[in-house]
Amino acid sequence: MRALAEVRDDPLTDDGLLLRRPRPADAPLVLRGTHDPLVREFLQAVIPHQDEAAAERWLTEIPPLLWRTGRAAYFAVEQLAPPEQPPAGDPADGAAQDIPAPAGQAVGWAELVNLDPVQESAEVAVWLLPEHRRLRTAKSAMRLVCRFGFERLGLRRIDAFAAADNMPSQLTGAAIGFRRAGYRPALFRSSRTQRLHDAVYATLVPEDLC
Ligand SMILES: CC(C)(COP(=O)(O)OP(=O)(O)OC[C@H]1O[C@@H](n2cnc3c(N)ncnc32)[C@H](O)[C@@H]1OP(=O)(O)O)[C@@H](O)C(=O)NCCC(=O)NCCS
Repeated sequence: MRALAEVRDDPLTDDGLLLRRPRPADAPLVLRGTHDPLVREFLQAVIPHQDEAAAERWLTEIPPLLWRTGRAAYFAVEQLAPPEQPPAGDPADGAAQDIPAPAGQAVGWAELVNLDPVQESAEVAVWLLPEHRRLRTAKSAMRLVCRFGFERLGLRRIDAFAAADNMPSQLTGAAIGFRRAGYRPALFRSSRTQRLHDAVYATLVPEDLC
């Protein structure tokens, strides 16, 4: 396994999505995500930012620090703009071609945490903004972050812990090759209600990623 600070961190793309390191301009995404009831229910230690400025400060400081020190790889997930249509009309009329492509829209978040250089393993989590759920987007996002883990970091295993009552999360993992490896009663605490969730433990090796 390579040190996070030494691996390539240019974006990875696939299936209409782009995975890239977060930036301060992702504050609206992070603000909404950390206030979302399902994100707060199913992820641990989610602290809702007070406002966009607080989210921006967090983005400026924390993800780069965790990356530099090899503790976590955080990513924003962007929807790629659809390919531009060739300009209609006279190709000599340059104006139509000068219109910039619409910027990609940040639709969610993906992370590799608990990076373990001895086991060469990490744990993955993904969330999407509510309007981007139920479109099978998470499958592509999770595949991209797992590819980062295997191809760039050289991980040998990626684990996922989904609340037993979080079926979309379990199905998303299974769809890209995660195999169920156990059941952990009362494994984690909801950030929203502090209620303990049982978790389904699933794990992925590079050969199984699909
Ligand atoms: C979990 C999450 C990332 C899944 O993303 P998604 O893009 O909405 O997932 P999909 O739409 O691809 O759904 C995955 C599967 O679950 C199914 N599904 C979706 N919502 C469901 C529901 N409420 N009940 C049962 N199945 C459901 C889908 O049909 C799909 O199965 P299929 O491919 O066999 O048809 C997204 O729901 C989310 O952000 N949830 C809140 C945060 C969270 O729980 N993150 C995971 C923490 S471990």
